[in-house]
Amino acid sequence: MLFRTTLLICAAAALASAADPVLGEAQYKQRCATCHDRGGERIPPQDALNGMTPARILRTLDMGAMISIAYPMNRTEREAVAAYLGKATADAAPPPEAFCKDRTIKLNDSAKFIWNGWSPTSDNARYVPPELGGLTLSNVGKLKLKWAFGFDGDVTTFAQPTVFDGHLFVGSAGGAIHALRADSGCIEWAYQATGPVRTAIAIAPVGNQHALVFSDLTGWVYSLEAETGKLRWKKKIEQHEATRLTGAALIHDGIAYVPAASWEETRALNLDYPCCTFRGSITAVRVKDGSIAWKSYVIPTPSKQVGTRSDGKPIYGPSGAGIWSTPTLDLKRRLLYVTTGDSYSSPAADTSDAILALDLKTGHIVWSKQTTPRDAFTSGCSAATRTASCPEENGPDYDFGSSAILVKTAQGRELLLAGQKSGVVYALDPEKKGEIVWQQRVGKGGMIGGVQWGMATDGQNVYAAVSDAAVATSLNGLDPKQGGGLTALRVGDGSRVWHKDPAPCGDRPNCSPAQSAALTLIPGVVFSPSMDGHLRAYSTEEGNILWDFDTVRDYKTVNGVTGKGGAIDGPGPVIVNGMLFVNSGYSRFGGIRGNVLLAFSIE
Ligand code: HEC
Repeated sequence: MLFRTTLLICAAAALASAADPVLGEAQYKQRCATCHDRGGERIPPQDALNGMTPARILRTLDMGAMISIAYPMNRTEREAVAAYLGKATADAAPPPEAFCKDRTIKLNDSAKFIWNGWSPTSDNARYVPPELGGLTLSNVGKLKLKWAFGFDGDVTTFAQPTVFDGHLFVGSAGGAIHALRADSGCIEWAYQATGPVRTAIAIAPVGNQHALVFSDLTGWVYSLEAETGKLRWKKKIEQHEATRLTGAALIHDGIAYVPAASWEETRALNLDYPCCTFRGSITAVRVKDGSIAWKSYVIPTPSKQVGTRSDGKPIYGPSGAGIWSTPTLDLKRRLLYVTTGDSYSSPAADTSDAILALDLKTGHIVWSKQTTPRDAFTSGCSAATRTASCPEENGPDYDFGSSAILVKTAQGRELLLAGQKSGVVYALDPEKKGEIVWQQRVGKGGMIGGVQWGMATDGQNVYAAVSDAAVATSLNGLDPKQGGGLTALRVGDGSRVWHKDPAPCGDRPNCSPAQSAALTLIPGVVFSPSMDGHLRAYSTEEGNILWDFDTVRDYKTVNGVTGKGGAIDGPGPVIVNGMLFVNSGYSRFGGIRGNVLLAFSIE
């Protein structure tokens, strides 16, 4: 406990001393004072902000209530305003009773119950066999809440836990990483990262210890000792200021393949921002020491000035094509598959909104298949009045947000499945450089629509839930009447097996029926979390609901933090050894806030 307190004090003090007070005050006057000098029913006045820690204020800007106000601000500006406003003390440490009595962690690599990283298997199918999950069609109805863990001061939870032989490792919006006992939720150790951590954590053996690898939303990649939480190495794999790491690393043979995306689309809301120069990439990092084996950019050409905007400012490009999700491993062909997002500048790159195959050894692009050509977009396009930073293509902003799935059909044919924000699911032929075998529409698609965090497959059917959320300007949040839906497609030919409409929101405040979170599959049952706060289990036969838990409620948490459930977005449930773990709370786009990790059990 002392250990954690010291760490937090160090983080807060370092932040305060590195930041420029003149810049901090100027940022406050320019970007915060209009509201916070006034105060008001909902707006905390400046002296209330002065009582918070800089870390807490920074969290609000990075991933909390002020996220959209902070979009145009770079890192230095955020840190400066947080240090200027806040008081440099530590956040409160958890009470002693939140810690496990026995805090020894011993990890056995041949243990049966391991879900390591984004998907239990490196094909990213998100399929949990009964010998791992211990959960079946017949006992799913028995799931009951066993414990809840609260993330102090957070309004969003979006990190998927990794469960390794009875120990659970999870990040948070506040950047706290915890090792917990999976059966009770007691704390074994905690580590404070620099930025919000939404990636799942990947684990690999190093010598006779284990290394955890994860990334944060400010561009840092970390490796901690799994047994103790001690930092092994920490590095920036990408120098770009707006780097945002959301996809979990995939580890194979001592190498962590780390995907990189960015915030640059939203930085462009600042009209003085030199748009745009970020390029999506994969970095192959040696787990043992953090050294780099190779780095491969999705757009091979470095950005330079390519034109002049209508307001006379320079335009940079090519840019964009971030990788938001975990790479997919194909050991047979020695390839790594990645999916990419849109371009930020004109002309759009031909590797944006695409599926790419990279050579595992060199990172060289072996083939790429683009599904949406000419998609260049920044947040300047969606502003009330389109700004000069919006490239001429003006969208449609159809990123791939989720991993490709490598699947073998019942007939033994291999296919790559990919779901896009456009609302279309694709099946590609890995033997023919990604030639499209079939495509099927499962939703309307849109900027925050279509398939977002990922599908799941058992080889027979592929299950695709859609967000299709829409922002209702009248509510300044999500439209409670738009979004959601779950569809089962036959893997072999893409034909529709069944479709299930979303459950209506009713009069729940800040509700959205969007099913944007990733799916998880066990034999006979597919789990689809919703932004309405429910986690539902659907029968894979015809889509009827077998089990439903409404996570929007207050929780008494095992670590003494006031716990609230909310919208579920990002990861899908993790199912290991008769237990199911899911995050609840998602304040982005005006969704229902919350700060809990929930653990269910069939006993
Ligand atoms: C347009 C008005 C507006 C502006 C501009 C604004 N805020 Fe806020 N701020 C609010 C409102 C409203 C809330 C309360 C939000 C809520 O509770 O949902 C808030 C809450 C906060 C909180 C408390 C969040 C929490 O979780 O308790 C912090 C910290 C904060 N703002 C910091 C800032 C900083 C720093 C800036 C400038 C970079 C800023 N705000 C700019 C309106 C604004």
